[in-house]
Amino acid sequence: SMPKFVKIVEVGPRDGLQNEKNIVPTAVKIELIHRLVSCGLPVVEATSFVSPKWVPQLADAKDVMGAVQNLEGARLPVLTPNLKGFEAAVAAGAKEVAVFASASESFSKSNINCSIEESLARYRAVTHAAKELSIPVRGYISCVVGCPVEGAIAPSKVAYVAKELYDMGCFEISLADTIGVGTPGTVVPMLEAVMAVVPVEKLAVHFHDTYGQSLPNILVSLQMGISTIDSSIAGLGGCPYAKGASGNVATEDVVYMLNGLGVKTNVDLTKLLKAGDFISKQLGRPSGSKSAIALSRL
Ligand code: HMG
Ligand code: MG
Repeated sequence: SMPKFVKIVEVGPRDGLQNEKNIVPTAVKIELIHRLVSCGLPVVEATSFVSPKWVPQLADAKDVMGAVQNLEGARLPVLTPNLKGFEAAVAAGAKEVAVFASASESFSKSNINCSIEESLARYRAVTHAAKELSIPVRGYISCVVGCPVEGAIAPSKVAYVAKELYDMGCFEISLADTIGVGTPGTVVPMLEAVMAVVPVEKLAVHFHDTYGQSLPNILVSLQMGISTIDSSIAGLGGCPYAKGASGNVATEDVVYMLNGLGVKTNVDLTKLLKAGDFISKQLGRPSGSKSAIALSRL
């Protein structure tokens, strides 16, 4: 079986750009968000309210969010690692946020400088504050099949963190293979464990394409009933605290596959190709999307 409609969560302006060494001008980020929204993408993650010392590329979060806050047609969530980030995000006009935990202790420490339990306590404070303002909170879990330090991650660890995030009020849990090591062989048992504690309609998958496994992993996730897929324009991305993590699965490749499956997304592939072309030219390198490269040759 296959869902009839898939909600694509575009993470390019955030996950895609956060690891870029050269600072991308704020105006380029704003234009990218405008272009992505006009493609029909229902959700475009705009930026992160994290420490500028940890992620210098997104130090302009306030200006980016301020410029797009009234943009219509898409939800524009931002990452918030703690109450300080949440308050700054709301002040800048954010109407939706995301918190990000990990299934691996080592990765939690290197990404957000605290243990898994400490992060869950922080996120309870964020979800509590968000509830008072009726702001929806998404929850991410990193390293759901593998960690750069610890290696394989047990599905039970992912299920534990997923349940905690769900119970504190996250409306959606995005399961992230941060370093892209998963195959359907490890993704399926992980999803089974999580689906036993969180309803499948509340789950999303977030694959990085380091080992070229994103599309098969997405396909098995769809077959298991998942209908929310994270992806990044032109396959941009990589986490600054996950050595060797390459780009996210490219949005163009996901839309191409879903079109082939007859699954609706509401995304205009022609406009998407133009948006991918725009940001690839700005970054001065070829697109990381195979579909975009192939379609540009026609
Ligand atoms: P810390 O150094 O432990 O924080 O960082 P602290 O509370 O000790 O504060 C130190 C300084 O940071 C203080 O400033 C705070 O005010 C400031 P100082 O007094 O030194 O001038 N600070 C902040 N500034 C701005 N915004 C904030 C904020 N909080 C504290 N929100 C912290 C802890 C969590 C802040 C830090 O580790 C951090 O910002 N980490 C973010 C890392 C990140 O963004 N990683 C990438 C995103 S996650 C990801 O990519 C994975 C995902 O895509 C899924 C996947 O693929 O796995 C989602
Ligand atoms: Mg990611």
